[in-house]
Amino acid sequence: MDMMTARREAFDAMADIPVGAIAEASLAAATITVHDYGLDGTAVPDKLVETVADLLDRATGPGAAVVEGLSDFFDVGLARNFHEALFRQVWENCASRLGAEQFGRHDRIKVNTTSDGAIPMELYGSEWSFKDLHSDRDALLFSHLYGPVAGFDGGALLLADVCGFMRHHGLRFADLFDWSVEPTPGSKPVLRAEHVPQVLAEAGIDLGAPGPDQIIFVNNFPDAGILHGVTPVAVTDPQRYVREFHRCSVKRTTRSDP
Ligand SMILES: [Fe+2]
Repeated sequence: MDMMTARREAFDAMADIPVGAIAEASLAAATITVHDYGLDGTAVPDKLVETVADLLDRATGPGAAVVEGLSDFFDVGLARNFHEALFRQVWENCASRLGAEQFGRHDRIKVNTTSDGAIPMELYGSEWSFKDLHSDRDALLFSHLYGPVAGFDGGALLLADVCGFMRHHGLRFADLFDWSVEPTPGSKPVLRAEHVPQVLAEAGIDLGAPGPDQIIFVNNFPDAGILHGVTPVAVTDPQRYVREFHRCSVKRTTRSDP
């Protein structure tokens, strides 16, 4: 099944999920600090991996995890190394329990750094990363580490749990979503603007403008129902402006060759 169909069907099914089938965990409980996990050098503590995986699993957590406190241990470069190592171990821990097999047998992990406002136009048809509340199309899990960041206002990261929202209100895909318009084939589900205030009020969280102190993980499996978005970025100091983010993501394929 292609990922657009998988996503539409998963959103359509959310109205029918029995009460109790997913954890009633609030996104407000997604934030933890590395200070609680005995960080020693750059090694990733096993307990941190398990806790992040439990937060991401909708059977036990809210479907997102925010790991704070990195700047007390790492500069941006070291934080990126730690981020990638943590991502790979979290994925190894939770891939099968989240049901990755149904999307193919092979992992394709991507690690890259994006300079927001200077993204090559041919990639996404915009120099800016996507801002409206949406699900990425292919990624099953992703995480972002922001920094360096300077010279702008806004840019707050928003998350919303539409799984609980759609179940509670008995809503289907077509009630809430449109498909994004992209310069390349394939689209992602985007929450229609008229629903944003109610979804944010009932099921959303504003994490503020993230920086190099935190890593934000999102369970982006179709059945997780976690949307992400960013409030508008207004450049206030063009000389100093920078908004980079280091992203790790994984999708599944049926073929092992790249
Ligand atoms: Fe996205």
